[in-house]
Amino acid sequence: MPKTHSDIGLIGLAVMGQNLALNIADHGFQISVYNRTVEKTEKFAAENPSTPGGLIGTKTLEEFVQSIALPRKIVILVQAGKATDAVIDGLLPLLAPNDIIIDGGNALWTDTIRREKALKEKGFRFIGSGVSGGEEGARFGPSLMPGGDKAAFKELEPIWKAIAAKVDKKTGKPLTGAKPGKPVKGGVPCTVYIGENGAGHYVKMVHNGIEYGDMQMICEAYSLMQGLLGLKPAEMGEIFSTWNEGALDSFLIEITADILKQKDPVTKKPFVDVVLDTAGQKGTGKWTSVNALDMGVPAPTIAESVFARCISAIKEERVAAAKVLKGPKITKVSPAKKKALVEAIHDALYCSKICSYAQGFQLMRTAQGEYGWKLNFGQIAQIFRGGCIIRAAFLQKITEAYARNPKLANLLLDEYFNKTIQKAQANWRKVVSLAVENGISVPTFASALSYYDAYRSARLPANLLQAQRDYFGAHTYERVDQPRGKFFHIDWPEANRPQLDV
Ligand code: 2AM
Repeated sequence: MPKTHSDIGLIGLAVMGQNLALNIADHGFQISVYNRTVEKTEKFAAENPSTPGGLIGTKTLEEFVQSIALPRKIVILVQAGKATDAVIDGLLPLLAPNDIIIDGGNALWTDTIRREKALKEKGFRFIGSGVSGGEEGARFGPSLMPGGDKAAFKELEPIWKAIAAKVDKKTGKPLTGAKPGKPVKGGVPCTVYIGENGAGHYVKMVHNGIEYGDMQMICEAYSLMQGLLGLKPAEMGEIFSTWNEGALDSFLIEITADILKQKDPVTKKPFVDVVLDTAGQKGTGKWTSVNALDMGVPAPTIAESVFARCISAIKEERVAAAKVLKGPKITKVSPAKKKALVEAIHDALYCSKICSYAQGFQLMRTAQGEYGWKLNFGQIAQIFRGGCIIRAAFLQKITEAYARNPKLANLLLDEYFNKTIQKAQANWRKVVSLAVENGISVPTFASALSYYDAYRSARLPANLLQAQRDYFGAHTYERVDQPRGKFFHIDWPEANRPQLDV
């Protein structure tokens, strides 16, 4: 017998919405669902007649709203942007004071800030929650990053904790094996209240930026093994499987191993060899990079991973350019040195990854100042350990780093990461050098290394740059022999220019 009123409602029955609704129902919560196109709701309800909690398909927004217990919790999972605003506008006249709207889409965090403010003024509560982990995550346990009204989240928390991915309490490893109707039991849920207004969607955006970086770095490792060693995909797949047993243990390394071992069902060739080398993007990596530029936070590795997709997209131009622009001939590394080079590529990948995450966490640190959030970086790393695309053993190290020092200025300064890079940097430098010598593009490996070298430089060549600015634009300069904040200017008229003493 269904309850008279559902525990929660969900609008938007595309793949993510359907999977999240089933996940919620699997945990014993009764859920009402609504979709603009009614046929989708009918089909979805018909296909899922029995779930532990119960799934109530509704045909009109009025029927949907009336079917949910007060104060209502309504999850919106529609296309981010205009559709979200349209759905909210449609809901407002039907809601009661204190009802909670939860936007689970990939909203731009500034939109979430705007929506939270507008809804608060009208007496409603709003939560912007990052939902990461793709379809599989939504169905069996995503990483959930809720931000917004804290008291409202307290009311949502039992549901959010129930449906989130779970990791082992001791090892931090994701608990797997959930099946329809049979979620995993126990474990630590991958969700925590992130912060006020747009904080959850901001963290989700940075998560996606980091994901762009991880993916591109893996592609560079693959490209180097292919270019310098001539390895075949299946063999590289084995290497990635081995890497997945060690420090690089992560979802993206695991699926890379699977992909490289996969044969094309049509031609029986290695699958990767038949996939066209142009990558799409939906925009969250770009948002992360634009925001890095806006806040003046160096996140070059994440930005390079976005640009790498952009350059991949101009395939025809590259094919034409390849005929005229010549690089060096690749010198294949001898098989005797294969093991050492594969290990060096592994180290280059790990060091680059550390820098990319350091940049992502710097972004969150700066944004927290900008928006007055109080982010807990250790907890954020913790909820990334399961459910989401960047889930990795490595995140446990970040959690530990922030446990050692919650005020850590940069992940690179943590003793574990510092020591790791000390040990691995010779290999990292060797790999980047080999890539440059042989003309293999490695934008994230190289930019991460440059970031590391710049960050550890007590003096950069910006002295000359600032002098140039003073020369042509009277932008003034500070002096090494005077306190910070005192500005000087040299008159650079023609007559005063230094004369060469010849
Ligand atoms: P639809 O099935 O009626 O197209 C992803 O596109 C989801 O967002 C779908 O469930 C889609 O509903 C919904 N959606 C997109 N734009 C919408 C809008 N303006 N109003 C309501 N739902 C919308």
